Amino acid sequence: MSTNLLKGKKGIIFGALNEQSIAWKVAERAYEEGAEFLLTNAPVAMRMGEINKLAEKCNTEVIPADATKVEDLENLLNAAKEKFGGVDFILHSIGMSPNVRKGKKYTDLNYNYYNTTLDVSAISLHKLLQTAMKLDAINEWGSVVALTYIAAQRIFPDYGDMADAKSLLESIARGMGYHYGVKKKVRVNTVSQSPTMTTAGSGVGGFDAFMNYAEDMSPLGNAPALDCANYCITLFSDLTKYVTMQNLFHDGGFSKTGVSEKVMDKFRNE
Ligand SMILES: NC(=O)c1ccc[n+]([C@@H]2O[C@H](COP(=O)([O-])OP(=O)(O)OC[C@H]3O[C@@H](n4cnc5c(N)ncnc54)[C@H](O)[C@@H]3O)[C@@H](O)[C@H]2O)c1
Repeated sequence: MSTNLLKGKKGIIFGALNEQSIAWKVAERAYEEGAEFLLTNAPVAMRMGEINKLAEKCNTEVIPADATKVEDLENLLNAAKEKFGGVDFILHSIGMSPNVRKGKKYTDLNYNYYNTTLDVSAISLHKLLQTAMKLDAINEWGSVVALTYIAAQRIFPDYGDMADAKSLLESIARGMGYHYGVKKKVRVNTVSQSPTMTTAGSGVGGFDAFMNYAEDMSPLGNAPALDCANYCITLFSDLTKYVTMQNLFHDGGFSKTGVSEKVMDKFRNE
């Protein structure tokens, strides 16, 4: 259902890899709500070709950019400026840990991989926002959302070094949210999403158990990707103009639940 909530808004959406991607759903919903946007992903992700289908569906184009490379970000932001004048919203939906991918535990990290994890999954948000500020690419009252996970606050052993990346990502959102807010009333928030069956999600060891546990712990159950997209749309809209520098849980209540009856039942002796 569309209410034209983003009519007239221009944006950039990072991270749509395939139909399961949270960014894919955000793009579909943003299009339905009347937004125009560029799609982008790392050049390697482009090889899979899926994103071109999404571009066709959303009547737009794809501009490849490795989010760790400032020159790629400059190229993308300049293209957005040329096309739209400036952008009103950006989705940062990027995460990757070579340590997690290769099954390296938190106590046996490869430090080159660790640097890559932090660069791709967190510092890329700083690079994006610093470059956007220098190029003056985001319009006044623009909104930037990055996706994160509760492992930034609490330990989930199989999430490995991604937990550190998410803590840094949330800190960067606060830091840049302050500076971009003062400079141009641009708001920056992170959305902390439930475990979701995507390429990035299923790379985490024991993901099924992880999802089932969260499902049983959350009063509303795990939040689906489409609902995460809907939440992002509200954050891009003018209905949330004064929300900034926040980490916003979109998790069916998981983050505030100590224990649920469903989980208790699994531990009862009688
Ligand atoms: N799936 C979950 O359980 C879950 C839960 C909470 C938060 N998140 C976060 O949501 C975001 C999106 O992940 P997803 O679950 O949709 O999975 P996904 O695998 O579909 O998306 C991850 C994206 O990151 C992109 N990417 C990786 N390296 C990049 C680079 N150098 N430059 C540009 N893009 C790059 C990938 O190509 C991919 O499109 C991530 O930040 C992830 O950590 C996911």
